[in-house]
Amino acid sequence: SPIRLNDYQPPTHLIDQVALTFRLDPQATRVLSEIRFRPNSARPGRHDLRLDGENLTLIVAAVDGHPVTATPDATGLTLPAAMLPDGPFTFTAEVEIAPAANTALEGLYMSNGMYCTQCEAEGFRKITFYPDRPDVMAPFRVRIESDLPVLLSNGNPLGQGEGWAEWHDPWPKPAYLFALVAGDLLAHSAAFTTASGRAVALNIWVRHGDEGRCAYAMDSLIRSMRWDETAYGREYDLDVFNIVAVDDFNMGAMENKGLNIFNSKYVLALPETATDDDFGRIEAIIAHEYFHNWTGNRITCRDWFQLCLKEGLTVFRDQQFTGDMRSHAVKRIEDVLTLRARQFREDGGPLAHPVRPDRYVEINNFYTATVYEKGAEVIGMLKRLVGDADYARALDLYFTRHDGEAATIEDWLAVFQDTTGRDLSQFKRWYTEAGTPRLTVTEDWQADTGLFTLTFAQHNPPTPGQPEKGAKVIPIALGLLNPNGDEVMPTTMLAMTAMTQSFAFQSTADGWQQVVAEGPDRVPGAVSTRPIASILRGFSAPVLLERDTSPEERAFLLAHDTDPFNKWEAGRALAKDVLARMITAGATPGPDWLDALARVAVDDSLDPAFRALALRLPGEDDMAQTLHAAGHVPDPARIHAARRAMGDAVARRLAPHLPGLFDALAEPGPFTPEARAAGRRALRLAALGYLSRVDGGARAEAAFRQADNMTEEVGALACLLDIGRGQAELAAFESRWGADRLVMDKWFTLQLLHAAPEATAQAVERLTAHPAFDMKNPNRFRAVIGALPGNHAGFHHASGDCYRLLADWLLKLDPLNPQTAARMSTAFDSWSRYDADRQGMIRDQLRRILAVPGLSRDLGEMAGRMLGD
Ligand code: ARG
Ligand code: ZN
Repeated sequence: SPIRLNDYQPPTHLIDQVALTFRLDPQATRVLSEIRFRPNSARPGRHDLRLDGENLTLIVAAVDGHPVTATPDATGLTLPAAMLPDGPFTFTAEVEIAPAANTALEGLYMSNGMYCTQCEAEGFRKITFYPDRPDVMAPFRVRIESDLPVLLSNGNPLGQGEGWAEWHDPWPKPAYLFALVAGDLLAHSAAFTTASGRAVALNIWVRHGDEGRCAYAMDSLIRSMRWDETAYGREYDLDVFNIVAVDDFNMGAMENKGLNIFNSKYVLALPETATDDDFGRIEAIIAHEYFHNWTGNRITCRDWFQLCLKEGLTVFRDQQFTGDMRSHAVKRIEDVLTLRARQFREDGGPLAHPVRPDRYVEINNFYTATVYEKGAEVIGMLKRLVGDADYARALDLYFTRHDGEAATIEDWLAVFQDTTGRDLSQFKRWYTEAGTPRLTVTEDWQADTGLFTLTFAQHNPPTPGQPEKGAKVIPIALGLLNPNGDEVMPTTMLAMTAMTQSFAFQSTADGWQQVVAEGPDRVPGAVSTRPIASILRGFSAPVLLERDTSPEERAFLLAHDTDPFNKWEAGRALAKDVLARMITAGATPGPDWLDALARVAVDDSLDPAFRALALRLPGEDDMAQTLHAAGHVPDPARIHAARRAMGDAVARRLAPHLPGLFDALAEPGPFTPEARAAGRRALRLAALGYLSRVDGGARAEAAFRQADNMTEEVGALACLLDIGRGQAELAAFESRWGADRLVMDKWFTLQLLHAAPEATAQAVERLTAHPAFDMKNPNRFRAVIGALPGNHAGFHHASGDCYRLLADWLLKLDPLNPQTAARMSTAFDSWSRYDADRQGMIRDQLRRILAVPGLSRDLGEMAGRMLGD
């Protein structure tokens, strides 16, 4: 039965101090705890104390030295009020756990002989009995006893000796931020001095052999620490900051106080082993986890319904950081591509939920694109509506008012209301109502009065449990261009608050301005050229904009828009229109679109990274989503064939330019991971992809042989696989990189993504039978099974074989690692887009999953929600 936001009750008891001792052993680790409790005055009267605890063997427990007789149940231990003192008391316990048997990778577990923890959201209860909820915050002292050379926990080191180490974290924190690591590790170290002069020792801890792969992560950390000081006035607050790279990890990384634990994929990088995208993700995730120190740790969440309070804000902050480090335009386009691919998909299907959900069965199922990415969009909208200066003032107030607290979305909105005097009650719907608003726009031009009017209408479609919704506050960034392509009204923020709303504009001596249509500020003497509107610049709100625009107007915006996002968006919309007509009507791409694309490809005044994005064709899943939204039933095979035909047409049109482009973009000198060089490589590889379709792969073969970095090695290999070649190169790649787990993940994924639709099921069978396939390693499982929906035509092949294979693998993984199984099951969430046969086959698999006895709560909740239960 679900947990509900409305049932929130403050904790009965608070904690003043926690002391933990770990006697590490793979099969029988002992955890001794000493917890100073006191009754919470917010809950008057006497209460039982409920302690969470799962899979713990209780050895002994006592209250103020008196043995506890109560026995634990499956989820914890209740200390009856009658046995608790009226005032403060000390609870002590000793429990036994088996980290080596922990395949769920939640709580204390082992990875390659090293001990590590993952406690968010509710993993601490697998370590010891504790009120495992984020609104119970306490300072922790930790003693670790083990023969392993490196013993780490949160906070500052207190001391260490032969076989032991002690740590003290002075900052009160919830249990989900607890961490412990023990292993035979090496550090890549550096030093940092904060703006106010605190010396901080920085260490990235890795297994032997990986110490040479940490430089980029360390550089990213130092830039993140400096950026948070200058952009948000936030300094680091301990003497050490440790990061540990772990090979077996269910997610990207975790912001444990002073001891971030990372999936090694997001730490380790060398030019030979990591692609430009890997470098970019490392920089972003290092920053994200670091930024959590203030948005997440110093100010945490009252309960898990408030997850977006820390995640949405921290994603927003890491996006700002990446924009500052690289390119705001490119970052925005990439973020919108992900938002549409993942969050719009979620919002449009059976898993749709509000940015702040109001119920859950398993909280791990709510670390979603909606909470993270839409959560960040909501903050971006708030900033656009109040302006940069008020955003900065509101954030300062947030940090002073709530430091050391576990806060809510209401608290967050209140700092904006108190700073600006605005009423944000309508804006709050973005947090409480699911679904992607559809925004339609119609234009009106009065040549006699020179009045240009845009009328917007919003439609908020129903989502599970939310049939009806109110009007959203939608910030619409608008610019106007004249027919010569000059910008005549710079970006202006319109705030739409009604279901339909008009905004009027007129030309004045100072250019175009917004006017109150019938009001006194109408300016006489309007000129009579109709402007061209650039709407939703920078993707100013996460909506589906529906606009009846001619291809000519889109081509005009592609050529002239001064807003880089909308420039790209115009090209994207053109490409999607062309592809949609190819799919639904058998059309062929016309010369106008091909010419427009060619002009962008060779325009050296544009950032190569931008040009690479413009040359990327819409994805097949994206087209399925778009066609479905337009009332069609997408046919995966037709989409696949049409997209290939489109790629061939582009290749033929660009053919004369491609060799020159490819050669001119070669980077002289040694590899550098920064954005400029990465952008050039991205465009060069885009050119190579099209070139391979006309030269039979000759240049890609040479590029693969000559590559001195992973970006070009794997990029050239992908070009070859794309044209049905590359078998020899795959073998060479495997023999070269067979011993490198992270690089081999790419080898697995590439083959799956490039398998022909009718051969995808065989590819899954072949790759999962490969001796290096290891379902217990989440990266490897994701590299194959997680990549499956990325091969849209293969996954949705009419045979249904891949549906069955996916369900088989989810059921195999579920008993070992329910979190990752549940996450991978979302591949099925788009079933309602497709024809009756496919719908039936997917639903059959979901029903088959649900019927399995002993299914995890994680996978059970997901399958049930996808079926609409
Ligand atoms: N807080 C971590 C981050 O965003 C992610 C933790 C994910 N936890 C989970 N149970 N899925 O950086
Ligand atoms: Zn996060």
